[in-house]
Amino acid sequence: MPARILVAYATRNGSTAEIAQAVGKDLSATGLAVDVAEIKTISTLADYTAVVIGGPLYMGSVDGAVKKFVGKNSEQLQKLPVAAFAVGLAPKNPDPGAIEMAMDALKKSIDPVTPVSSVLFAGNLDPAKVNFVMRKFLEMAKIPAGDFRDWDAISAWARELPVKMGLNKGTKD
Ligand SMILES: Cc1cc2nc3c(=O)[nH]c(=O)nc-3n(C[C@H](O)[C@H](O)[C@H](O)COP(=O)(O)O)c2cc1C
Repeated sequence: MPARILVAYATRNGSTAEIAQAVGKDLSATGLAVDVAEIKTISTLADYTAVVIGGPLYMGSVDGAVKKFVGKNSEQLQKLPVAAFAVGLAPKNPDPGAIEMAMDALKKSIDPVTPVSSVLFAGNLDPAKVNFVMRKFLEMAKIPAGDFRDWDAISAWARELPVKMGLNKGTKD
């Protein structure tokens, strides 16, 4: 069976979806077959040799859809090479420890799966979409608004994945 990678993502406002599409495009450029799909549309992992999982951070946790997906497919995911990314504004938070906390949240969301690579990408926060209560939370958490997605960093990470996942171009082994 030729190698086929699934990029499975959760999103609330679309920015993680766009990152997942970019990761998929870069993986395709390495010669691998790739599907990019929102987690809630995925019914089986049977066709895949490797999985990339991505989700946004909200209130200190990765979107719950990720945990649910991992729980449902835990047995299979533990047998496959898995890479994970979280998307959030923690990289723009001046507090020391913000990135560590975000990485910890990512780790918890994919537990018990051990990824071959995990990363935190800066995301996009449109202040127009945030209500008053949320705005207060964001101020308290020192989370700024804006589109901070670093497409070069995203691309560089994606292009390293086939080697980290032990996949040769277009083959299973
Ligand atoms: C209400 C709210 C809470 C957020 N909480 C966090 C957080 O705890 N940590 C973080 O790094 N980013 C946080 N963010 C930033 C989002 O993770 C960021 O906007 C991300 O790009 C959203 O992804 P999505 O567009 O795929 O939903 C928060 C954003 C909002 C609107």
